[in-house]
Amino acid sequence: MKTVAFFDTKIYDKESFLKFGNDDINIRFFENKLNKDTVSMAACCDAVCAFVNDSIDKDVIEQLEKFGVGLVAMRCAGYNNVDLKAARGRVRIVRVPAYSPYAVAEHAVGMILLLNRKLHRAYIRTRDHNFSLEGLTGFDLHGKTVGVIGTGKIGRAFCEIAKGFGMNILGFDPYKSDEFDGDYVNLDELLSKSDIITLHCPLTKENRHIINAQTVSKMKQGVFIINTSRGKLIDTQALIDGLKSGKIGAAGLDVYEEETSLFFEDFSEEIIHDDTLSTLISMPNVLVTSHQAFLTREALNAIADTTMKNFEDYFSGRELKNEIKI
Ligand code: NAI
Repeated sequence: MKTVAFFDTKIYDKESFLKFGNDDINIRFFENKLNKDTVSMAACCDAVCAFVNDSIDKDVIEQLEKFGVGLVAMRCAGYNNVDLKAARGRVRIVRVPAYSPYAVAEHAVGMILLLNRKLHRAYIRTRDHNFSLEGLTGFDLHGKTVGVIGTGKIGRAFCEIAKGFGMNILGFDPYKSDEFDGDYVNLDELLSKSDIITLHCPLTKENRHIINAQTVSKMKQGVFIINTSRGKLIDTQALIDGLKSGKIGAAGLDVYEEETSLFFEDFSEEIIHDDTLSTLISMPNVLVTSHQAFLTREALNAIADTTMKNFEDYFSGRELKNEIKI
């Protein structure tokens, strides 16, 4: 029997992983996030399962190696929270490269619809028997231009939906895909021509703060910015400045630069000590969701299924198809 330490467990994780469980693999579910203070919980385990806000840094990797933990299975696609250099030769890393691009793409579209048609305000108004339409004017998506930064699986799933709305699609991606159904342009052209910009690229050293004061200055007046990828793609202060000046018409954020200690947890009884996030949340044209774009039944099942197969492959000494090569 092999044992896996499962960090940052939520009820929905447990349900899906128990459904795809395997009698030869014992999963120890921990609610704590994985970091240097909690890594000792993985002692005596054979592998670890981690998520987007766990910190698999050098200290954690050194400890895992000491405990004889040979595998970190990320139950997500992104792996910017893993120190790959430190992991080399010490711990192998696998991930779930694709589970449901539709889940994330549909969430991005949901954010656009809500912000544009002000559904969040309409919902509150009618519950208060206020049937006025003042201030609820939106615009037709039909005929507008959406700029997609990152035309991989999620970006292309987003484009399929945007096509259905009759939108013009511009794409920017250093690695072009034949399956992209839009026009590839350089970043400057995308910034200057898009009514809506949506981020679907991974976070890398090169594209940290790809949305910054300079790139915002190149955008159309009133542009919508949607980020369902990673918080650090956006310089939050530049976003706030753009929202305050009216250059940015609305922002839909499923991710946030400093989300690690906040997202996925309930602080409704407490005061949040993050004034930047509080400023964003206070704006009527900003929608913040707490990294929930992936959260559909289909995605959770696919994540659990692939992750369990990753464990089975590792424990049986088979090739790791989803290994991150380092
Ligand atoms: P993918 O690997 O299929 O596509 C990513 C695309 O981004 C690739 O075509 C790549 O060439 C492109 N890219 C890389 N660097 C770029 C840059 N600097 N500028 C423009 N394009 C660039 O990945 P997938 O599955 O589409 O996921 C995209 C991202 O979505 C993930 O990396 C992750 O950060 C995020 N994500 C967020 C979730 C959420 O719940 N909010 C859930 C799943 C993924």
